[in-house]
Amino acid sequence: MKTIARNDAYPFILKAVKPLADDVVQLSLSTKNGEPFSYREGQFLSLRLSSGVQRSYSMASACSDDGQVQLHVRLLDGGQFSEWLRGQSRVGESLQVLGPYGDCVWQQPESASATVLMLATGTGIAPLKALIEKALSDGVRNPLILYWGGNTEKDLYLKDYFFELAGSHSNFAFVPVLTGAQPDWQGRHGFVQDAAAGDFPDLGSATVYACGSPAMVEAARTLLISTRNLDSTRFKADAFCPAIPRKAIHDAAHISIKVKQQNGMRSSLSVPSGISLLQALTSIDQVIGVCGGQAACGNCRVVIPDPWKSNIAPAGRKEARLLAAIDSAPEHRLACQIQVNSSLEGLLLDL
Ligand SMILES: Cc1cc2nc3c(=O)[nH]c(=O)nc-3n(C[C@H](O)[C@H](O)[C@H](O)COP(=O)(O)OP(=O)(O)OC[C@H]3O[C@@H](n4cnc5c(N)ncnc54)[C@H](O)[C@@H]3O)c2cc1C
Ligand code: FES
Repeated sequence: MKTIARNDAYPFILKAVKPLADDVVQLSLSTKNGEPFSYREGQFLSLRLSSGVQRSYSMASACSDDGQVQLHVRLLDGGQFSEWLRGQSRVGESLQVLGPYGDCVWQQPESASATVLMLATGTGIAPLKALIEKALSDGVRNPLILYWGGNTEKDLYLKDYFFELAGSHSNFAFVPVLTGAQPDWQGRHGFVQDAAAGDFPDLGSATVYACGSPAMVEAARTLLISTRNLDSTRFKADAFCPAIPRKAIHDAAHISIKVKQQNGMRSSLSVPSGISLLQALTSIDQVIGVCGGQAACGNCRVVIPDPWKSNIAPAGRKEARLLAAIDSAPEHRLACQIQVNSSLEGLLLDL
């Protein structure tokens, strides 16, 4: 299969838009000439509109060789991609696709009997559905348990599908979990990570996949590693971080940053501490976080000179691996991995 190169935009056609829930649609996309699009289950792609708006979405089905891809998209009021989809019928339109990206992909379980837990909230179910379908079709026999959380039953738009899948595969179990009050609900209440932690006191040999809201992913990571003995290298996750800061941070201290753009022009920014450097640059249209800040595309690479470089935390494992893969110099960093704080005061940033 031809692999479409990372960061090369590739034309796809939007073939169908199918409602899955009140605010979730399934997009069926196809490569323009039916050429295969190769990806690993659990990965995501980046869709670029002609307006330049670019958003990440995870593949919701196992990879096939017919160039077809399915995505689940939650429609957000006021969201730029959501409103583009909602505004008029887009079927037949061309979209630029970048990717695939992400390393929330299948990891060989520690042993044939080791448990594999999957935690999803909302459309975070999409990459886990692809992973589960692939694992079951490959004949994986490990116990696979899916916890899917939503506010109401309607949010769990594939509930019947997963119950049926559990009925036909003895090693797969499905646990729906609701956060909202619903009088006739017989199932579990609370957060998915708490439900999983309650069921599994020791995850020493387990692998956990978590996809969906950033709050759930971080809570699950902390809880399961610190209290359930989960090996941190066996926690695989994709947090569906928004491409733009969700709300202005009014109370935060502001940090002054100067940006030297590629055309030589300089702009001065006053950035609230706490957001990522990528979010700051996105707000002045200087960088597009192609992979949504997942340290997967390298598109947000910037030069951080001294003394600021030595003041900030060094690159983590994922960032260091990507920087090495794209032949970076020692002063290069990924803006998506750097949190703005007082150590960046006065930074002169070179794009
Ligand atoms: C790795 C990854 C995988 C993802 N996979 C999926 C997936 O499979 N399915 C899925 O549904 N999503 C997924 N996402 C999230 C997705 O990429 C988008 O963030 C999401 O669809 C919203 O995009 P949008 O353009 O509709 O909204 P945006 O334009 O990004 O707006 C998001 C929200 O912020 C509000 N807003 C807009 N502008 C501002 C502003 N200036 N200030 C404050 N608030 C504002 C909007 O009203 C809206 O509610 C993924 C994200 C990542 C990083
Ligand atoms: S946005 Fe993709 S690596 Fe930073």
